Amino acid sequence: MCGIVAYIGCEKAGPVLFDTLKRLEYRGYDSAGVAIKSNEEIEVIKSAGKIADLEKIYVSLGSPGETIGIGHTRWATHGRPSDSNAHPFISGQIAIVHNGIIENYLDLRELLTEMGFVFSSETDSEVLAHLINLYYKEDLSEAVARALAQVEGSYAVAVLAAGSPYLVCARKDSPLVLGVGDGATYVASDVPALLPYTRNVVRMKDGEIARLYRDRIDIFDLEGRPQSHQVETIEWDMDAAEKGGYTHFMLKEIHEQPRAIRETFSGRISEIEGDVRLSLGLSESEIRSLERVTIIACGTSYHAGLLAKYLFVRAAGLPVEVEMASEFQHLQVRPRTLILGITQSGETADTLLALKKARTCGVRSLAITNVVGSTVTELVDGTIYTRCGPEIGVAATKTFTGQLIALILLAIRLGRARGHLTPDQARKMIVELTRLPGLVQRVLEKREEIRKIAEDYSGAECYFFIGRDFLYPIALEGALKMKEIAYIPSEGYAGGELKHGPLALITEETPVVALATCGKKIQSNIKEVKARGADVVALATEGDPDIGKVANVVIELPETRPVFSAVLCSVVVQLLSYYTADKLGLPIDKPRNLAKCVTVE
Ligand code: F6R
Repeated sequence: MCGIVAYIGCEKAGPVLFDTLKRLEYRGYDSAGVAIKSNEEIEVIKSAGKIADLEKIYVSLGSPGETIGIGHTRWATHGRPSDSNAHPFISGQIAIVHNGIIENYLDLRELLTEMGFVFSSETDSEVLAHLINLYYKEDLSEAVARALAQVEGSYAVAVLAAGSPYLVCARKDSPLVLGVGDGATYVASDVPALLPYTRNVVRMKDGEIARLYRDRIDIFDLEGRPQSHQVETIEWDMDAAEKGGYTHFMLKEIHEQPRAIRETFSGRISEIEGDVRLSLGLSESEIRSLERVTIIACGTSYHAGLLAKYLFVRAAGLPVEVEMASEFQHLQVRPRTLILGITQSGETADTLLALKKARTCGVRSLAITNVVGSTVTELVDGTIYTRCGPEIGVAATKTFTGQLIALILLAIRLGRARGHLTPDQARKMIVELTRLPGLVQRVLEKREEIRKIAEDYSGAECYFFIGRDFLYPIALEGALKMKEIAYIPSEGYAGGELKHGPLALITEETPVVALATCGKKIQSNIKEVKARGADVVALATEGDPDIGKVANVVIELPETRPVFSAVLCSVVVQLLSYYTADKLGLPIDKPRNLAKCVTVE
């Protein structure tokens, strides 16, 4: 995944490009570059490494360039991180930046090489620069449209030509947002990059191409037909996109969970009716005739889906299959299945492709996502938005608990519509849901206790997380968090499964986090690992009389229904991995080799 930006206005382009690029660094950070118009020529500055280093080079060169430019921050897919593989790419009078994958680039490269174009990189993106150059006579947007017509794959692209009075950008299956400022127009892969400059944005749609002037935007389809567009005013304040006093975005986002949870259920629950208001794009009779739900997701979103496996069958009488999106292409969809895609970004390539396949099977589909207008919403019959605000830390935290809340709402909605839940049963769940933000706040207040435990075990060789029932998915999520930000090998297991092999790995060097707020059976698993020398950190319900006798350390959590205790345990495992990574001095918001949104298969 990469981030692209562009600017056309009255100020020097360089500082605006660097500032907006830094706000997109979470999308990729192995190399960066800018191309800025300068005396009817294009000045390109690019290098492997961080944007801040590139900015120093720019300043050392005397901050060249005028008021039009494009920029890029890269996460390598084709070609290793290097100066030559960094964007922008230049061909004649054209410079381009690209996010996405050109699938037929080898064919295009061969064709263009035969025509005499010389390639300077190993990337797929460079073919776009040469193709546009091939077609560019006077009208830049026409040349871009002709080039894109030859391209298979995904793109968000911004194009600058030395002789053109406007910039061009276009998108297909990669996000792109335009900013409408006062005498200036902006482009970025995501909204937070633009917030210091403007709150008025236009979300480009797939297959659109835009001409950007200082004072206006013209949007066309690839055949050149004018398209209308809506300017949306972003209501988040700047704080929502900045760190707000926390040392890392991840810690800030962990602390935003009470609000994110409340916002996700606000306006959607009715205690009086004992029901949930969610419009799903399905008729009530369609909901009643469903036989199963198949959930498609990746990573943390997949773990959220696993919670639904335990929940939907109880609340709505619906069995659930949870599939990793990347494996879904090998599977079949049966009739009367509801497909549910879960993706916080709404742009994960594996999930989008799986949903596209599901769409061809003639079944109904829903999505849960955090990003309004993201690509996933175009592929499904209905969308349930989590309302968590932008998540910048690469490790998903508030969007995960937001997904759990969306799934709980959906379970109640389906359960009521199918007559599986009575209004009274639904009401009890709703009442407990409204208590949840306060309970999460109480867990957050235990941060110092959790920090100390994390620090004590930060030298662990390997971590184990175990849980049963609703807490099994949270055990998997705890292990994923520990791996991705603290780089400690970690395993998540269903408590009962440990004795079928992994017990061989348990030693004094392998702390075991036991999620023990849901039933007593986990206590025998705790005894099994204690007998092999492991220290056990147990998450237990306040006042549990037995847990202290079996665990070394106990973190007490407020009492609630089992499915909600999964949310409380999630917050603890997030804090545990955060403080472990912090103690180890690791780059928490940008773990190595990872990116926030994976837009490649
Ligand atoms: C882990 C993490 C990833 C994502 C996965 C899917 O903290 O963030 O595992 O959950 O890449 O991303 P989305 O939800 O955007 O589809």
